[in-house]
Amino acid sequence: MSNSPSMTAPAGSGSFTPAKPGAEMPQRRKLLLAATSAVGAAGAAAVAVPFVASWFPSERAKAAGAPVDVDIAAIEPGMLLRAEWRGQPVWVVRRTTEMLATLETVKPRLADPDSKVAQQPDYAANATRSIKPEMLVLVGICTHLGCSPTDRLQPTEGWAGGFYCPCHGSVFDLAGRVFAGMPAPTNLVVPPYMYLNDTRLRIGEDSKGA
Ligand code: FES
Repeated sequence: MSNSPSMTAPAGSGSFTPAKPGAEMPQRRKLLLAATSAVGAAGAAAVAVPFVASWFPSERAKAAGAPVDVDIAAIEPGMLLRAEWRGQPVWVVRRTTEMLATLETVKPRLADPDSKVAQQPDYAANATRSIKPEMLVLVGICTHLGCSPTDRLQPTEGWAGGFYCPCHGSVFDLAGRVFAGMPAPTNLVVPPYMYLNDTRLRIGEDSKGA
C-alpha cells in the first residue's frame, strides 16, 4: 500500500482564475491566505510528531523485542534452562545421547517429523531441529491455544521423553515435534538464535540478523 498523499482538487476549484502575475492582491484576500497558511502549518506539526516518533521506538519497546543472551555453561546433560524472550518462555535443553536417539525412533508417530512446516529457521530444519545436535532451543508455548507445556525430559517405559501440554493433551518429542493426532497443529517454534561462543547463546538474533 502506498503512503503517497492523494491529490484532490479543492472545492470550487473549477471556477478559480489565477491572478495575473504582478496583479495587486486585495487586502481581504491576503489576510485569508495568511490565516489558511497558519492553520496548514499547525496541522502539519500536529501530524508530524507521532509520525516522526514512530521512526524511533521507545527504550521499553526496544527492550521488549531485544535479543537475550543466555549462559549455557551450567546446563548439565539432560537439564532444561528457562529463559524469557519477548515475554515468552524459551527453553534450552542439553540433550543426552540417549535423548537424541529417541528422535529417530519416534519419527513414524509424528505429524511433521521432517519439520516441513516453517516453525524454525532454516538452520534448524534438520533431524535435531538445532544448530548443535545436543542443544535444543524452543519457544515454550503450545501451538494449539498457547498454554505452556510441562517438560518430561527423561525417557521411561512407554514415554519417549518430551513435553506434555496439560490443557488439551498435546505431546511433543525431545525436538519439540508434535505427535500425530494431537490438538496442536504444528511443532513447537524454534526461535532465531546463534552461538556467541561455546557457552553463550543469543536468542532472538542470528547471523542473518533475524
Ligand atoms: S493449548 Fe496445548 S493442547 Fe491445547
